[in-house]
Amino acid sequence: MKIIKVASYEEMSAHAGQIIINKVKDHPSSILGLATGGTPLGTYRRIIEDHERNHTSYRDVSTINLDEYVGLNEDHPQSYHMYMKEHLFSQIDVQPQHTYLPDGTAKDLSKECQHYDQLIEKLGGIDLQLLGIGQNGHIGFNEPGTSFESRTHVIDLMESTRKANARYFSNVNEVPHHAITMGIRSIVESKEILLLASGKKKSSALSRLLEGNVTEEFPASILTRHPQVTLIADEAALSKSQ
Ligand code: F6R
Repeated sequence: MKIIKVASYEEMSAHAGQIIINKVKDHPSSILGLATGGTPLGTYRRIIEDHERNHTSYRDVSTINLDEYVGLNEDHPQSYHMYMKEHLFSQIDVQPQHTYLPDGTAKDLSKECQHYDQLIEKLGGIDLQLLGIGQNGHIGFNEPGTSFESRTHVIDLMESTRKANARYFSNVNEVPHHAITMGIRSIVESKEILLLASGKKKSSALSRLLEGNVTEEFPASILTRHPQVTLIADEAALSKSQ
C-alpha cells in the first residue's frame, strides 16, 4: 500500500482529485467507482473546479457507486442518489445514463443485487475505486464479519454506523436499518483503489489497518493485499500509526 501523508483534509482532497482527473485525462472512458459520506466531498469539489477551469470532460466516463440505503427513493434528500447528483453529477458533464447506484427501492432486492453485479461485469470492472473507511473498518457498507468473497448484497447496518451517519438525518431513528452494498470481492477486483481518511476519528481504524492483520472482522484489512492501493490520509488520521 502506498501511503501519502498530508497535512489536512484540503490537501487530501487536492491529491485525490488530481489522481482522478489524471486518470480521466489519460483514459477518457474510465469506469470510476465512487463513494459518498463526508470524506470524498472535497475531492468532488476539486473535480468540479477543474472541470470548470480546465474543461476536463467526463462525457465518456461511467460511474458506479458503492452503496445506497434500502427504502430511500432517488429523490429522498438523504439518498446517495441525491448526494451524488448534488455534489458531483449535476456539476460535471457525465452522462446521467452512465451513472449507476443500487436501487434501494427495488421490489426484489436480491434481484437488484444480482443486476448490480452483472452491471459491474458488463462495464468490464472498475478502473479506479474511491473509498472512505468506517470507524469500524467498513468499506462500502460491508460491516465487520462480511465475507471477503461477498458480491453485492443487502446488509444490516450496525448501530454505530447508523449513529455515525445520523448527522445527515434529523435524528438517528430516521437512518435506515439496511443498505445495499457492493461486496468486498467486487471492491478488491477494482484495478486501482484510492482510500481516503481524514481526522482523529479515523486514527484507530488506520492504525488497525496498517498493523496488517487481515481479518473479516476488519473489512478494510483486505486492502493491504491489493497491489494497487493508495492511501491518502492526513496527520490526524495517521496520529495513532507508526
Ligand atoms: C459511503 C461508504 C462508506 C463511507 C464510510 C466513511 O459510500 O461506502 O463506507 O466511506 O462510512 O464515511 P465518512 O466519509 O462520512 O466518514
